[in-house]
Order: sequence, then C-alpha cells, then structure tokens
Amino acid sequence: MAIKAAITCVEKYVPESILTNKDLEKIVDTNDEWITSRTGIKKRHILKDKDKATSFMGEQILNGILEKSNTDPGEIDFLICATVTGDMIFPDTANTILDKCGCKNAFGYDLNAACSGFLYALTTGAKFVESGSHKKVVVIGVDKMSSIIDYTDRTTCVIFGDGGGGVLLEKSEEHGIEDSIFRGDGSGRQYLHMKAGGALNPASIETVMAREHFVFQDGRPVFKAAVTGMTTTVKQLLAKNNMTLEDVDWLVPHQANMRIIKSVADMMDFPQEKVMVNIHEYGNTTAGTLPLCLADYESKLKKGDKIVLTAFGGGFTWGSTLLSWNY
Ligand code: UT7
Repeated sequence: MAIKAAITCVEKYVPESILTNKDLEKIVDTNDEWITSRTGIKKRHILKDKDKATSFMGEQILNGILEKSNTDPGEIDFLICATVTGDMIFPDTANTILDKCGCKNAFGYDLNAACSGFLYALTTGAKFVESGSHKKVVVIGVDKMSSIIDYTDRTTCVIFGDGGGGVLLEKSEEHGIEDSIFRGDGSGRQYLHMKAGGALNPASIETVMAREHFVFQDGRPVFKAAVTGMTTTVKQLLAKNNMTLEDVDWLVPHQANMRIIKSVADMMDFPQEKVMVNIHEYGNTTAGTLPLCLADYESKLKKGDKIVLTAFGGGFTWGSTLLSWNY
C-alpha cells in the first residue's frame, strides 16, 4: 500500500489583543452593521507587542505541536512556513521558528502563496513524507496581517487579523492527504498586492509617503474569482477521485468573507452545517485561516472523515485538497 502523509497533530495560536468592529468604528468611517453583513467578521486578534512578529506566533504553534504530540525538537525534519508577512524579507521565517524551538536537525523555508499558502505548503510537505525521505514534517500557516494593513483604509482594515496554526505530518498507510488540484493566474496580481517594499519598488521616502507598504485590494473582482476558483477546483477534485459531495464530511474554505463561504456552499448545494466557519472570531488571517479551522473543529472530527479544504488568494492562487482524517 502506498505511503500517505497524515495529519497527526494540529495546533493554533492567536494573539490575546482583540480589535472589535466597535473599536474600528472609532478609527475609520465604518460600522458594525456594514462589517457584519458584508463580511461576517465580528472581531480579529492583533499582535500588539512591537518586538514580536510572525516567528513568535510560529514558535507558539510549533511548541504546541511538540508538546501535544510528545515530540522531541530534534525529531523534526522539515518545516514549511506559509506566510506573506515573514519577520524580514530575508532570511526566511521558517528557520527562525526552528531555531527558537530548538529543532537542530531540521531545515525549512517559507512559501508565499498568500491565502492559498497553507494548502500549497500542506501538499508540498506531504510529498516529503510520501517519498519516505522525511518522517516528521511541520506545516505552518501564519500571518501578522496588522503589519501590512493601513488602518486609515476602511476597505481592508476591517477584514484582516493576525494568527495561524500548523500541523504535523507523518506517514500512514490508511488515512492522509489524498489529492490536490492547484491553479494560479498571475494576471490577478493587479487586484491584490502590496505596491512597495519588493525589488520593483524598494522602500523610499516616496513609497512610505504614498502609503504603498500596505495591502491594496480591489475587492469585487477578487470576490468573484474566489467563488469561481474554489467551487471549480472542489468539483474537479471530487470528480477526479470518483466522489460526490455526499461523500464529503467537512468542507474547509478559506475564511475571507462569509458571503464567499456561503456562495461556494450554495453553488454546490452543500449543507452549511458541514462547512467549517470561524471568520467571526478572527477575520481573514491569510495563510492562517485553514489550520485555524482545523484546530477549532478538531474535537468534532472522526477518524476517516473525508475533508475538502479550499482556498483562494493573492497571485491569484487557488485550489483544493482532499484528505481523510487520521484520528
Ligand atoms: O483572502 C484573499 C482574498 N480576498 C477576498 O476573497 C476578499 C474578496 N472581497 C470581499 O470580500 C469584498 O469585496 C469586500 C468585503 C472587500 C468588500 O465588500 P463589497 O460588498 O464588495 O463592497 P464594495 O467594495 O463593492 O463597496 C461597497 C460600498 C462602497 O461604497 P459606495 O461606493 O457604494 O458608496 C464602499 O466605499 O461599501 C463601502 N465600504 C464600506 N462601508 C463601510 C467599503 N468598505 C466599507 C467599510 N465600512 N469598512
């Protein structure tokens, strides 16, 4: 029987500080009613400490995984950190997390696929386990979105929050990551990006004055492409695996907007009660949303449950992954 990569542990971390819709009413021209009805978000967690960033949250997640799975730091082989808000442009944040957690026998790197980052990283990590080359692989999705959000821009600051989660992947002959379909379309970059800070527009007084070091999003085209992209790849993935939606126990959609989540489920006639939702708690944590969902629903999951995760994000990047739950 082929070796599969199974999720054997899941953990999450969100910072303590909370930013509610009411708090945002005092900062920008918005209101709780607009945010709730247009996005489903009630609050987000914000990492306030000036000296803490994405690696701090990754460290909490990895330490949580080590403790919960009773794993020695030296046993970890490989870590992928999906993020668009690494501590620095370089070096990567994955190796900083490994260092902070005392994982001396591992290597790691970051994966930048915005809101699809965790899903891309999950499949990448699974390949290392499936090939037999690595035994204990950790995949983290985490973002400190508050570090790239313009709190004078009401169209983006109400949406995003900080936090994330991670999983341990180990070999299994029964359950695990089954299959994925991923897509990308670089022409979508015009709708969702950060203008400055990269090689194209390095930081300068001008870029700072023009507020170009923040997330830019043209929401409507992203909304439409997200619904189509997630729905299409879920359907394709199920057809490819000779399954129907009735075979699926849980749908785990990226938490960008409650209306997107509802549209995806409605377009496929999939029951809402089998859709994981926690957007009201955290907002959109970019690479963090999918592991946050798995962590929050962990107690409801049963061995053998068929789970379809689906995501859409900046790039554009999107896709869906099918797995069977291992515990
Ligand atoms: O995770 C990565 C992928 N990202 C996504 O999937 C996000 C996709 N997009 C969305 O979720 C939605 O497009 C948004 C939540 C970003 C915006 O919702 P919308 O229903 O598409 O609103 P809109 O941009 O079409 O704006 C409608 C109105 C505008 O006013 P006018 O021009 O009609 O007078 C906006 O200025 O709502 C206004 N508006 C707000 N009003 C109060 C925009 N933001 C706010 C706000 N509070 N925070």
